[in-house]
Amino acid sequence: PKYLQVDLTQECKELIHTLPKVKGWIGNHLHQYEGFWYPTRSLQGLLTCQKHFQALDADILLVTIPKSGTTWLKALAFALLNRKRYEDMHIHDHPLLTTNPHDLVPFLELNIYVEKDRIPDLNLLSSPRLFATHLPYVSLPKSVKESNCKIVYLCRDPKDTFVSMWHFANKLRPESIGANSLEECFDTFCRGMNPYGPYWDHILGYWKESLERPEKIMFLKFEDMKIEPTIVLKKLAEFVGCSFSKEEEYKGIVDGILNLCSFDNLSNLQVNKTGKLRFGVENKVYFRRGEVGDSKNLLTVEMNEMINTIVEKKLGEHGLRF
Ligand code: A3P
Repeated sequence: PKYLQVDLTQECKELIHTLPKVKGWIGNHLHQYEGFWYPTRSLQGLLTCQKHFQALDADILLVTIPKSGTTWLKALAFALLNRKRYEDMHIHDHPLLTTNPHDLVPFLELNIYVEKDRIPDLNLLSSPRLFATHLPYVSLPKSVKESNCKIVYLCRDPKDTFVSMWHFANKLRPESIGANSLEECFDTFCRGMNPYGPYWDHILGYWKESLERPEKIMFLKFEDMKIEPTIVLKKLAEFVGCSFSKEEEYKGIVDGILNLCSFDNLSNLQVNKTGKLRFGVENKVYFRRGEVGDSKNLLTVEMNEMINTIVEKKLGEHGLRF
């Protein structure tokens, strides 16, 4: 499939030779670079992005690890920032009704900087530019850290993220190689060898930074968004500098955005049932259940406890729990 193909630069080929490598979840390999594990395609994108991406102060960058709610966050942020242009959320020309959020908010390392010979001109985009990435804090392009651009980090209970990733990887794996075994994936996840893992280190990098620079990094949890979506969306609006006015609240714009971006609404749209992303993945694989605690349906009590123990050890002392 197209999403597994990569045309590597000489620099990336040479680097890969020197990096630890393990079997990937979807097809090819994971390479360990700057402390995290990357699919080959992401590593190529990471190198180009580190070299070429110039963040602007007005930029907004959405950061997640795969399967922690990226699609939802992209939809919400897009609807939030473009709300003036599409005032009436029910009219049929809202882009989210006909386009999957991933085609509206591109990933730096997976979409924008993935073709080795093509460095796109991002100056043509209207402000504020909205991008996404799965990169851990240490590996963000320098200009992202040094500019005043805003970072919104969303994480999710690692147990649910793992289960979501396991299902997702199995759907994306070429039929010829069959499904991943749950036990094998679980073991690699616990050892941090999942795409962009170790997950706890990914979370911790952004958590620490968000405590140091709360005006730069907003730290969100999927679970909080499920419980109090209105509060989170309003805080998000404030953080990115476009708070809702009293009049907008009165007109029901906040609820309009939440309904537009809800799992039920997005997952039932024709485009997300039958469409495909520009780079070939079927839109429907991004919508499964969208619930909190679904890992209970798949993990044994022992597996559950194992992740809880790791999370407590790695994140508990920093005040982070799921
Ligand atoms: P599950 O597999 O647990 O259902 P990502 O967007 O980072 O790839 O994460 C995908 C996960 O988010 C999947 O979780 C998916 O169902 C869920 N999801 C997708 N859209 C959502 C939405 N609008 N609201 C809540 N959850 C959503």
